[in-house]
Formats: sequence, structure tokens, C-alpha cells
Amino acid sequence: MSGYNVKGVVLSFGVGLAAGAYMVARSNKKEKPDPAKKAEQHLWKVAEYSLTSGLIRVCDELQLYDALWESGPSTAAELAQKMNCSERWLTEILSQATAAGICVYFFGKFCLKPEYAHLLRDPKKAPRSMQGLFEMVYCMLDRRSATVESIKSGLGVDYDYEKSDISAAIDRKNSNWFENKLEDDVLKNVKAPKSEKSLVDMLEAGIQVADIGCGFGASTVQMAKRFPKSHFCAFEASQKALLKIKERVEAAGLTNVTVCNVLEKSLAEGSSSGGKFDFIYVHDVIHDMTEPKKFLKEAKKGLSPDGCMVVVDIACSDNLKENIARPDAAGMYGFSCFLCLACSTSKKGGAGLGTCGFPESVARKWTGDEGFEFFEVLEIESLPSNVAYVVA
Ligand SMILES: C[S@@+](CC[C@H](N)C(=O)[O-])C[C@H]1O[C@@H](n2cnc3c(N)ncnc32)[C@H](O)[C@@H]1O
Repeated sequence: MSGYNVKGVVLSFGVGLAAGAYMVARSNKKEKPDPAKKAEQHLWKVAEYSLTSGLIRVCDELQLYDALWESGPSTAAELAQKMNCSERWLTEILSQATAAGICVYFFGKFCLKPEYAHLLRDPKKAPRSMQGLFEMVYCMLDRRSATVESIKSGLGVDYDYEKSDISAAIDRKNSNWFENKLEDDVLKNVKAPKSEKSLVDMLEAGIQVADIGCGFGASTVQMAKRFPKSHFCAFEASQKALLKIKERVEAAGLTNVTVCNVLEKSLAEGSSSGGKFDFIYVHDVIHDMTEPKKFLKEAKKGLSPDGCMVVVDIACSDNLKENIARPDAAGMYGFSCFLCLACSTSKKGGAGLGTCGFPESVARKWTGDEGFEFFEVLEIESLPSNVAYVVA
């Protein structure tokens, strides 16, 4: 090979390499996602999910999922006749539900996917229904103007904020859990630390119980029915909820429940028979309280020496970065801005804990400061976002 040829081969090899590198770089550049484009697509998805969630509420109000599930695969015309609704509108809303992955469409018929049916039917018919959660979301969105004002002033609104019936939505979300899981997943796992007695045995034998911040009273009514020898004091701060608990207790014909307005009766004053409480149950309340430390002080005074308190709260960290990194963090802080932080700042000087404000380290420290000597953490299988602290 002549020198010229060697040079030529080396040169063309070099050019080839450079061209290849250029092509690779170009194609890499093409494939690299544009952050602005990605952000735009992300926000489109967020808006799309919001529309889907709004239409899930619309379907719930129409009881459309129940009707579709009960009829099986149906044309819009068949459903329109069954539900006495507009065929044109049903076609549109079911097309949206199909595009959103909730329904399928084949041979001109719509069908609710079975794996969605038990999550979207009326909670009265489907114990694992998530409709209460969607109802909560819409009550929370009703609080937008209040949230704007709170962010400016620092002062939140409580559960009675007039525009929303948030307590009714929470009750719809949680009632089935109290009915089907409270005993098996929490009560059965608790032993009173001093006596070593099982909590369920104590409840069966008859003890004094305080159910703090029980909302519409689903937990109180469930326990009062199940343990008729025990007496229950249902403590609430919401005036709307207090009325509803009274109504429920009367409707169920329960004689072992006293409804207590926290503005009128303190926990430290003890049970309706004068003695102390043997069991205090606090489900998803402490992080909402304006004065959680005052509550813990009262709980210590009001709890019998052999009794125990069970606090169910959010399983979270005391480290903001860790909490933000949770896969459900946008939801957690969303609940907080519209509800938990709002309630815990609803009075001037309110503690302002918010949804992730009562992690284990804080719970241990604050209960220890009030003189509680025993602290145990229980996982709750059916509520992985929550945790139970047994305190005595
Ligand atoms: C998230 S809801 C939980 C309701 C119910 N325990 C449940 O899990 O379905 C919190 C409730 O705590 C009540 N609450 C807030 N501060 C309270 C206080 N200091 N004493 C009693 N109830 C309180 C609110 O009115 C609201 O009904």
C-alpha cells in the first residue's frame, strides 16, 4: 500500500468516526426529553386526572357505576332507559370513563371493569369503595378561597367551615373500615400494658371509653353496638358532627353512649359516671388539634392507672425531605393544606401540626413529657399510611 493510500485510509476512517460520533450525538440530542415539553405533558395529565376525578363524582351522584354494574355490558340507550337519563350524555360520560381506563367499550356496549366496580360503587354496597375519598376531595376543593385567606393570614378554618360537609364525606370514607377492620386490625392487637389484659376482653367485660374527635360517630356506634357492657363518651369539636352523632345514637337505640361537646366537657373531668376512662381512642385527630399538648395533659389526667390510650395517626417522618419523598406526599400535603393544617390553625396560636405533624418521635416525646411511661407502635395492615401508638 502506498503512503498516499495509507493516509487516505486513515483519513477516511477518521472522517467516518467523526461522522458517526456526530450522528450519535444528534440522535441522543433528539431523544433527550425537553424539560419544558415534559412539564407541559405532566400538567396536561394533572388536568386530565382532575377532570376524571370530577366525573367520578358526577357518576357517583347519578349512581351510574351501580346501574352499569348491575345491568352488565349495556349500550348507552339501554342505560338511558334504565336510569331515565339522556342517551347522548351517557355516551359522552361513559366514553370519558372508558378513555380513563375505568370502563371498556366493545360491540357498542359499555362495561364497568370488575376491578374498578368494587372501588367505585356506592360504599353501602361495596365495603372497599373509594367514593368517600372523592367526595372528600370535592369538599376540600370548596375550601379554595378559605385556603387563599389562610395562607395570607396564617389562620385556618375548622371542620364546620360552612361551604363544605367534609365530616359527612369523611364518614362515608371511613365507616366501612370502622365496621370491618377496627376490631381485627387495631383493638385485637392491644393489651393494657399494666394489667396485660387484652383490650377486647376489657371491652367485653365493660369499661369506660372515650372516643375523641369521632366525627359523625362511626367508630363510637360500632364499638357501642359490639361491646354493650362498656360505656362510650363521644367527644367532638365540630357542632355539625355533634348533632349527627346524637341522631345516630338515637336511631341505633344505644343507651351506652354519651355525646360530649369538647367546649363544654373536658376529658380530664372523666367519664359520665364520674370515674376515669379505661380506654381512650383517638383516630386521625391529634394532628388536627389546635392544642394537642393540652389534650395529652388532659388524657393523662383522665386515663385510669390500668387503662391505655390508642392514637391512630399518619405514619410519617420528622424529616421534611423524607416526607416530601413519599410516593403519596402530594396527596398528604394536599389534605393538609385544605383540611388538617387548616383545622390545626383554626384558632389564633393553634399548634399547626398538619397531616405529617405527629410522627413517632414527636408522639413519644410529647406523651413522655406529660408523664405517660409506656409507648408502643403498632402497624395497621389495612391502613398502611397510618400507624397506631399505644400509650399508657
Ligand atoms: C380527620 S377527622 C377524623 C374523624 C374520625 N375520627 C374518623 O377517623 O373518621 C378529625 C375530627 O377531629 C375533630 N377535632 C379536631 N380537634 C378536636 C378536639 N380538640 N377535640 C375533639 N375533636 C376534635 C374534628 O372536628 C374532626 O371531626
